[in-house]
Amino acid sequence: MTTTIAIHSFRRGTGKSTIAANLAVLMADSGLRVGLVDANLQSPSLHLFFGRLDLGRHPTLNDYLAGRCELGMATINVTSWLRPSPAGALFLVPASGEAVKILESLRGDYRAEALSEGINALSNDLGLDVLLVDTPAGLSEETLLTIVAADRLLLLLRPDHQDYHGTGVVIELARRLGASKLMLLVNEVPVSFDTGEVAMRVETGFGQPVVAALPHSEELQMIGSGGLLVRRLPDSPSSHILRQVVAGLV
Ligand SMILES: Nc1ncnc2c1ncn2[C@@H]1O[C@H](COP(=O)(O)OP(=O)(O)O)[C@@H](O)[C@H]1O
Ligand SMILES: [Mg+2]
Repeated sequence: MTTTIAIHSFRRGTGKSTIAANLAVLMADSGLRVGLVDANLQSPSLHLFFGRLDLGRHPTLNDYLAGRCELGMATINVTSWLRPSPAGALFLVPASGEAVKILESLRGDYRAEALSEGINALSNDLGLDVLLVDTPAGLSEETLLTIVAADRLLLLLRPDHQDYHGTGVVIELARRLGASKLMLLVNEVPVSFDTGEVAMRVETGFGQPVVAALPHSEELQMIGSGGLLVRRLPDSPSSHILRQVVAGLV
């Protein structure tokens, strides 16, 4: 059985892709077979964390959704790209960075259920233990379907009033739609704040568990989505926190 985890936030730039890529690598390190899907067709990014600016002619999630290939064909086994090599395996389903394909995806000319169907088939075919889906910010029919189909929803927010408001909206909708286990992760907490206190306040305010409060990290900002924090700086405080998050998620 595969545990599917949707990673979402109401606002963009909250760290979804950064957290998704690093958590996926840590999960593979712990011996799991992990899938990582870039479902943010408008703003694709996950391949960048693995040092690939260009996917060449490799098929992407866009091609699957447009009916041009099976999802398995759009999947890249990136296990050997990682140094050191993880004990488990990591499979990336990238989204296309080509302007034409991004525009094609904006037309939304595909069935909203196609993503969930593809994910289920892929999980079975590859015998995945866990599959992470990096979703676009905000709310859309596709995103709501992904959230509802997932076994867990990891909702990211920053300590910011716009984020608090938006997160409240997503939680209310997720509850109404019967989404499964919901967890919050507070990211980019200013270093002068007490992360424990922030986590407690958010947990009490939303009545949902907070898996971590991650401080603003100079290291993450310097890496700037061009690599993996847990590989470049495995002993940094943020890498340690992310390892604890993995332990709580799987
Ligand atoms: N804890 C953090 N501290 C500092 N910068 C961060 C942190 N988390 C993410 N970032 C940076 O914020 C930017 C947006 O992150 P990203 O993962 O692309 O967000 P999203 O996918 O939600 O739009 C990136 O440049 C990333 O490096
Ligand atoms: Mg992103």
